[in-house]
Amino acid sequence: MHFFQTENILFQKMAFFNKKTSKISFFYKKTYQEKLEELKNFANLTEQDIFELKNLAQLSFGTADKMVENVISTIQIPLGIATNFLINKKNYLVPMATEEPSVIAAASNGAKLARFSGGFTATSTQPIMIGQIQIINIKNIKEIKSKILQNKNFLLKLANKQDIFLQKLGGGAINLKLKTLKTNRCNMLIVNLFVNVKDAMGANIINTMLEKIAPEIEKITNHKILLKIISNLSIYRMAKAKAVWKKEILGQDTIENILDAYEFAKIDIFRTVTHNKGIMNGIDAVALATGNDFRAIEAGAHGYACYKKKYAPLTHYYKNKNQDLVGKIYLPIPVGTIGGITNIHPSAKLSLKILGAKSACELSQIMASVGLAQNFAALKALVTDGIQKGHMTLHKRKL
Ligand code: MEV
Repeated sequence: MHFFQTENILFQKMAFFNKKTSKISFFYKKTYQEKLEELKNFANLTEQDIFELKNLAQLSFGTADKMVENVISTIQIPLGIATNFLINKKNYLVPMATEEPSVIAAASNGAKLARFSGGFTATSTQPIMIGQIQIINIKNIKEIKSKILQNKNFLLKLANKQDIFLQKLGGGAINLKLKTLKTNRCNMLIVNLFVNVKDAMGANIINTMLEKIAPEIEKITNHKILLKIISNLSIYRMAKAKAVWKKEILGQDTIENILDAYEFAKIDIFRTVTHNKGIMNGIDAVALATGNDFRAIEAGAHGYACYKKKYAPLTHYYKNKNQDLVGKIYLPIPVGTIGGITNIHPSAKLSLKILGAKSACELSQIMASVGLAQNFAALKALVTDGIQKGHMTLHKRKL
């Protein structure tokens, strides 16, 4: 039986058991009303949610004015829905905010083709972030280190007092490690604080903890502290996703060409950066839609790309024994489903509701899957039609 037929049978079975699927045929051809109706059914949206979406879930001047300084207006970016995502056997309609044509269509296409082999499998680590305290002008490193380590429990307890609620949820400061730096100006000691931030992005929690424990460290060591700030290289907060694209669907030639395109990205940094940019097209769009800090994610992703000395692609491709294409992604994704503007911004709130992610970990797994789908779709387009074809289709529609 052909793969398309198998997929259709699965789809019919799902409909029969009234299970919701994100595989909505020709979603892009539906009218605006029909799209909203699909969303309403899929994500159990209320009439009020639909009313807000229709009114573009506008950010009022009052809300905007509470978010940043010197507000004069707001800028709007299209919010679209990527269909077809099946991640760990769960269907997702993924809200994406982007100004770039073809991004949402490409992600949907990558996800659609992955469904033939069961969609994406994704995992993530505990949401552990690092905060850094910089102690400068160190004369006797050994002595200062031992003074801090003697007070480690006291400092962790003090950090945790800043967010009792986080501890009740099973999170909080869990460890503290020291690192010495010999710089051109002086010897420094860096205190790295490790915090399980649960469903928050974590910057506020960590910066508050650091600012509270820093004066105590100053007293304990009798040394000056300079910076107290979160690290955006969150290598302990990783998300992983994998998908298999069947040889019968892609064709052997396309698979070979994608592998050659991947080799190019592995060797030539001018290509690697563009390859990773394509991944971030998807990840940033979900971050923006859900009110997350996409600059932090970008900085962390590119930092991680060169963490092992040489700047490298964030995705990996190879053939399995059936000659199918296997794609994997592994990168830090520090995101929250609470805190920041996730619960203030009307569009962010609605996007999280549509997505139905129950935790920050789940959100990071979705974003890793979107990044992989996006990268796969870009490579597939580049080795076949080129990317301008998709852009031109949209352009024609506009005209
Ligand atoms: C365009 O925004 C992204 C691509 O350049 C990514 C890539 O080349 O892999 C198409």
